[in-house]
Amino acid sequence: MQRSIERALEVLAGGCDSPVRSGWSAGLPMFVQASAAGAYAYDESGRRHIDYIMAYGPLLFGHTHPELVTGLDSLAEHGLVWGTTHSEEIRLAERIRAYLPSMQRMRFVTTGTEAMMSAVRVARAFTGRSRILKFAGNYHGHFDVALIDAGASASAGGIPQGVRADVLVARYNDLASVDELLGEDETRLAAIIVEPIGANMGLVQPADGFLEGLLERARHAGALLIFDEVITWLRFGLRGAQGRTPVVPDLTALGKIMGGGLPIAAFGGRRDVMAVLAPDGETFSGGTHGGNPFCVGMAHRVLDLLEAHPECYSYMDGLARRLAAGLREIFTERGLPYTVVQQESVVDFKFRAGRAVQNYDDACSADRAAFACYCAAMLEGGVLLAPSQNEVMFVSTAHTARDVDETLAAAEVALGAAATRSDLPAQ
Ligand SMILES: Cc1ncc(COP(=O)(O)O)c(C=O)c1O
Repeated sequence: MQRSIERALEVLAGGCDSPVRSGWSAGLPMFVQASAAGAYAYDESGRRHIDYIMAYGPLLFGHTHPELVTGLDSLAEHGLVWGTTHSEEIRLAERIRAYLPSMQRMRFVTTGTEAMMSAVRVARAFTGRSRILKFAGNYHGHFDVALIDAGASASAGGIPQGVRADVLVARYNDLASVDELLGEDETRLAAIIVEPIGANMGLVQPADGFLEGLLERARHAGALLIFDEVITWLRFGLRGAQGRTPVVPDLTALGKIMGGGLPIAAFGGRRDVMAVLAPDGETFSGGTHGGNPFCVGMAHRVLDLLEAHPECYSYMDGLARRLAAGLREIFTERGLPYTVVQQESVVDFKFRAGRAVQNYDDACSADRAAFACYCAAMLEGGVLLAPSQNEVMFVSTAHTARDVDETLAAAEVALGAAATRSDLPAQ
């Protein structure tokens, strides 16, 4: 394993393809993975770890669900990428729109980054304005606008001053901070972009009235509201986060789970807004792999699975509840003042006292040393967590009650180790 890390550092920049994987933000060694099956990730020594990273969200069905990993040759037999329009991508768009009616027109791209980047461009083209209001701690991918004060493990080097000048960064769940930033000058605003349920500074629920307040402000400014549902769509059901609020976004970005592990994403929204795209309008969005039949075929499989097994959501919810309840019990026993939050298949807590995280300031106040110690001890105990406190635990249909109980046993030990590294009571 050590040798792989050394080899990685020789040829991959920083030893990895995405900085969070390096373990750097928690001061942990990089986890080098050899294989995966179901709910498990295996390291190069062959050791099994219960995996709650789940590829940072896409693996709702675990690593190797037979309906997703077998018969791929049948998806490939007519070719992998065509560069032309085809009936299956039309059918996929129709299926998506049936669940997300706000997406009157859409376009397929490859990653969540592209989906959000394109949605922002469309909003700017439609409004003829350049300014974007976003929220600290939300993550929308790795294009320039998105990286300013982003959550997850993002940083913002290499972003021109001109881009920064067009970005306003507000506090999540704080409409007063939005008003303050918009001030007298809201006429320059093109769009407000938001994770309708935050999942990149831990799991953060929108406060009552927050999303409604954003829509109101966008309307008042003559700007658009863009929902980033790259994590929430399919994680929180076929209607996503927008199925749970009366707020109808003007544009939406999708990605992650819809590809069942393959890269496919989409953006779309109001018909009049999407009409700015060429050939109807003069705004460009397009790519070699957009809507390729292989990934589209996989996305149909994912929707087929979810439609055939709606009970999978209550199964995951049950497991996540068990995990959350077990963690709360350990915290109570140890006198630890942490708050566990759980929504369906997502579980999260931060090493900080007080109420659940509401915004990025809260998230950043968590104890980093205690988390690093906990994360390392969990790995030692056979549980793989994302090496950053901004990430959450993703439960999949492949996890079992036994996995959860094993996780809780590991957490019991790891929390003991972490308490010795934190300012909080060691019991
Ligand atoms: C909410 C959200 N939006 C966008 C993205 C970017 O997606 P991708 O990594 O596929 O570019 C992510 C990735 O984690 C995300 O969590």
